[in-house]
Amino acid sequence: MERFADMIEAWYEQHGRDLPWRNTDNPYRIWISEVILQQTRVAQGYDYFLRFVERFPTVQALAGASEDEVMRMWQGLGYYSRARHLHAAARAIVRRGGTFPETYEGVRALPGIGDYTAAAICAFAYGLPRAVVDGNVYRVLARWAGIGEPTDTAKGKRLFADLAGELLDKERPAAYNQAIMDFGALQCTPRLPDCPSCPLAGTCVAYAEGRVAELPVRAHKTKVTDRYFNYIYVRAGASILIRRRTGNDIWKGLYEFPLIESPGEWGEEAFYASGALRELLAGGESPLFRCLWRGVRHVLSHQVIHATFYEAVLPDDADSFPGYVRVSPDEVDRYALPRLLHQFLERFA
Ligand code: ADE
Repeated sequence: MERFADMIEAWYEQHGRDLPWRNTDNPYRIWISEVILQQTRVAQGYDYFLRFVERFPTVQALAGASEDEVMRMWQGLGYYSRARHLHAAARAIVRRGGTFPETYEGVRALPGIGDYTAAAICAFAYGLPRAVVDGNVYRVLARWAGIGEPTDTAKGKRLFADLAGELLDKERPAAYNQAIMDFGALQCTPRLPDCPSCPLAGTCVAYAEGRVAELPVRAHKTKVTDRYFNYIYVRAGASILIRRRTGNDIWKGLYEFPLIESPGEWGEEAFYASGALRELLAGGESPLFRCLWRGVRHVLSHQVIHATFYEAVLPDDADSFPGYVRVSPDEVDRYALPRLLHQFLERFA
């Protein structure tokens, strides 16, 4: 019987995509592309990748940038800790002489690089026989081999990693890995795959048994937390106020307006009664206030942010606000903001 790898690679010859991070063996570029593609689809990742490597063409350029600059190139992509890890890893590489590690263990030891990214870099840049295992690969293997073991348990992960290693084309790991990723993205799609047109239909266990729609299986549902953010768009004369988020939370390193988080959805009464506002303004002049936007739902992978935006207009000579940066609405582009705040500014600024 024809090998799995040969069938996948033959499919790729016909249907694979020509993408700017392919046809290169530059580990830096491959690394950047893989980290971007972990959080976005190819169509969106494409532009982010090109802008990122244009601004930071080498590991030295990335290491030499400020964290604010890196976050600005990343804004809108989400999972901002990945950008901070990229930056930290670039600095670690430069500290050690500036050469990208050339072994799997060396690559895997960099901050923010897990099994998937290490395998991708090593296969694509160095031709090392490492199989990538991402969501696409889980789906293709679970269906083709008819595996009902969950993909998110230790046992399941080991089983899929072992199978991926067995099926890997060890002579052509780069071509094979690109092939199975594209096959998963374009042919063996999560929903409504076009199985009758699939060249693997003849050997696919899930297709033969009518289990395509139920595979792959996950043991755990992602837990989603609701959070309630009350933002205050403070206009003090010609400036607005922003502050850098710190702490171990979403959007660390990005900038945002003064924020009051509440335990549930607050109406205006509750918001004004909370006293949080007086505290924020440190007993200063009572501002002109109104609610501009409420009921905004911003969905992240593990959290839903329910946002309300208030506007506070302060007198021109309002005192400075410790901990906040005063910027003009034009200058705000120099800071990385969460997409939610960009959406607000587009509508209301
Ligand atoms: N998703 C993750 N890595 C990818 C790659 N190298 N090509 C296409 N899609 C991907």
